Amino acid sequence: MDGLVQGKVALITGAGSGVGRAAVLLFCEHGAKVIAADIDGTSAEETARLAAAAGGEAVAVTCNVADPTSVDAAVAKAVEAFGRLDVVYNNAGITISPIPGKGLRSLVECDPEEMKRVEDVNINGVVYGCQAAIRQFEAQGGGGAIVSTASVAGLMGYGGVLYGTTKGAVVQLTRALAIEVADKGIRVNAVCPAGMLTRYAGMDPDGEHRGRVLEGMGKAHPLGRAIDPRDTASAAMFLCSDLASNITGVNLPVDGGLYAGRKVGG
Ligand SMILES: NC(=O)c1ccc[n+]([C@@H]2O[C@H](COP(=O)([O-])OP(=O)(O)OC[C@H]3O[C@@H](n4cnc5c(N)ncnc54)[C@H](O)[C@@H]3O)[C@@H](O)[C@H]2O)c1
Repeated sequence: MDGLVQGKVALITGAGSGVGRAAVLLFCEHGAKVIAADIDGTSAEETARLAAAAGGEAVAVTCNVADPTSVDAAVAKAVEAFGRLDVVYNNAGITISPIPGKGLRSLVECDPEEMKRVEDVNINGVVYGCQAAIRQFEAQGGGGAIVSTASVAGLMGYGGVLYGTTKGAVVQLTRALAIEVADKGIRVNAVCPAGMLTRYAGMDPDGEHRGRVLEGMGKAHPLGRAIDPRDTASAAMFLCSDLASNITGVNLPVDGGLYAGRKVGG
């Protein structure tokens, strides 16, 4: 049986860890050919190696999403390696560093330099990914799918203010761009995960307290378990697949029901 993204060529950013690595492995498992892009080229190579070991086809590239030239080069690599491009998954993202021993930084505690760095990656990085994707999709005659990893923090007040603001920008970009490029047959969607145990924010997914951390995260979600990077990757892959061919402009929560609301009473 053909996979959900059989034969599609996908560029996935932030591919060296967490959601990005899970997405590369999942897309390959479902028949895609993947460019695994990360600012950390060594981790992207490890992801490509894992994909190959599982029988998939993935090529690693070093790519800084905050640099439009670097993003264009990653798209060019996809075309060179696989002849075309069908999907761009803007997944790379960073957050404001927490205060050791205290946790999330309030807005007034954020350093302007770091704020600019986070905005560059989380907002401009997605914008550059969309621009490069649209140019390539148009050169191929239209069609194609863009998906981005926003966050439930872009839909509601949840966690750091500045981080949530960057993800809110991705949510709005997703809607507005979907309308702008609909007549070219290009679809634009985003996934909005809640808490996942990844390397993000200095967490350690392989640490000795993994079980306890996951249990704590799970309690924050109505369905009772933490979000797995593969949950988010699965939603992204669905949105890129032909099963979602009439879906665009959607910001899909992957949050165990968190954004739906809160149970009141018994
Ligand atoms: N972990 C969570 O709780 C959570 C929740 C909601 C949304 N997200 C979002 O999910 C996405 C994936 O994060 P993750 O949890 O897998 O984190 P992660 O830290 O495990 O992975 C992020 C990857 O992005 C790469 N990266 C960072 N800056 C980059 C840049 N400038 N160019 C290219 N690659 C870059 C890193 O090297 C890393 O491999 C991010 O957009 C993040 O904001 C995470």
